[in-house]
Amino acid sequence: MFSLYASEWRRLLEGFDAAPRAALVRVAQSHNEILAQHFYRVMLKDEAAAGMLSHEQVHTRLMASMRQWILQVLGAQPEDDLEALVAHQIKIGEVHARIDVPVHVVLRGARSLKEGLRAVLQQEAVGGQYQVMQLASTVIDHAMELMSQAMSCRATATRRTRGLPPVHHDAKLGHCA
Ligand code: HEM
Repeated sequence: MFSLYASEWRRLLEGFDAAPRAALVRVAQSHNEILAQHFYRVMLKDEAAAGMLSHEQVHTRLMASMRQWILQVLGAQPEDDLEALVAHQIKIGEVHARIDVPVHVVLRGARSLKEGLRAVLQQEAVGGQYQVMQLASTVIDHAMELMSQAMSCRATATRRTRGLPPVHHDAKLGHCA
């Protein structure tokens, strides 16, 4: 079911040379904690997001999940099991939909991660920064597309219960009931 999105992910990765892919893996490994902290700091300053994140347990769990996500998504390689990675993004989208995190707030979070990464690349004077940043933005956007599909499926279900017609969904994903 997820194979089209997995092949799209592979195609996107193969559009970049091995050098930026390797550089991004290294940065994800060495800076996942700093990036997750940056994400969290920005979100806590955000009025819409802060209320959902203030609980200590959420903080601990989300920090761990975010670090793992950075490693998996920024570290993904064409030969990896990208179907599993796609399925995981859908699941994460469902988690956010269940707890009612609005899509635009999640996207704001993604933007803060990109900003944080750009700062790390500059500070560490990583070679080929432009390519590394392009690659990171491409894979983050792809993951966001997947997560937001799961979130808009939830919106579709809500429209249905209110007797409203559905909005169009990407039939390739095909998981909206
Ligand atoms: C780039 C954007 C984001 C990414 C990549 C992301 C990633 C994740 C991941 C991987 C999980 C764990 C899902 C699981 O249980 O398997 C999670 C859970 C969660 N996320 Fe996000 N998230 C993002 C944005 C946000 C934002 C903006 C908020 C709130 C303002 C938020 C709030 C939460 C909460 C409350 C949980 C559940 C934590 C728990 O109690 O376990 N996330 N997120």
